[in-house]
Amino acid sequence: MSVYPIILSQTKFAHKENLNYPFEERAMQFGDGVYEVIRIYNGNFYLIEEHVDRFFRSAEAVKIKLPFTKNELTSLLNNLLLKNSLTTDAKLYLQVSRGSATRDHLFPADVDANIYAYIQDQARNTSALNDGVKTITHPDVRWEYCYIKSLNLLPNVLAKQTASENGAYEAILHKNGIVTECSSSNVYLIKDGIIYTHPTTKNILHGCVRMQVEKFAKDLNIPLKEEPFTVDDISQADEIFLTSSTSEVLPIVTVDDTQIGNGIPGHLTRLLQNAYENDIKTLTSNKVEQTS
Ligand code: PDD
Repeated sequence: MSVYPIILSQTKFAHKENLNYPFEERAMQFGDGVYEVIRIYNGNFYLIEEHVDRFFRSAEAVKIKLPFTKNELTSLLNNLLLKNSLTTDAKLYLQVSRGSATRDHLFPADVDANIYAYIQDQARNTSALNDGVKTITHPDVRWEYCYIKSLNLLPNVLAKQTASENGAYEAILHKNGIVTECSSSNVYLIKDGIIYTHPTTKNILHGCVRMQVEKFAKDLNIPLKEEPFTVDDISQADEIFLTSSTSEVLPIVTVDDTQIGNGIPGHLTRLLQNAYENDIKTLTSNKVEQTS
């Protein structure tokens, strides 16, 4: 079953040992893996516990065995921050795939998962946070296990690209008119003082920032209903916003050609943005001992 040594790579021939990408890798060939994106403010993780929990849930859902406990992973990620002397606003990307093996749909036997994580600077998008963003609506053509943060992101990539080509920041996804979430964020509609958002079924990713927004709404006495809204409801909305680790709490001021409210970020969205702002101010600096 071993691969013949000469590989066609782009338009050239190369020895398989000399390729600079791992062609026999489950993430590369099947998208067979899961990932996380964790926000960092001033060199401190935001919502690390929630992300680590979800990483373990996703891995378990696709039957990938992780070689560490949640605590061990958390301390590895904290050490990665320390080793890179992080002090900036940044984000961490963490991925696990089922491993490297000869291509076969069946799980390979006795293969270790491939795991990596890296950090990149990520400045806060202050102009979008202040002014709000444009979005488009787009059919949600994804599979039925969107609660798993899987590497199979082609429908998300295509939807976001379509948004960008239409001058928009995000694509609001809908299944037969029912809004699920965005291509890489959760979405919320506010009408008559109530926040509506799709329930945390298998059809959406259970966002870490969303969990936090639910707490903020409770603290602020803003009712939040886990009830889906439709594309038709959008034109009647008072406010719409989205959330994600990279976008934070981001007002939406236009959907397709429809202006939302007065075309400027609404009052309740601003209150939630303030709550987020206060929350990240409370992050304490990392005191984890650096190991080797
Ligand atoms: N995306 N829904 C989808 C489809 C997402 O990809 C994301 C996150 C979210 C929000 O999840 P959280 O609040 O935990 O960041 C919702 C990340 C940022 C990404 O893929 O880059």
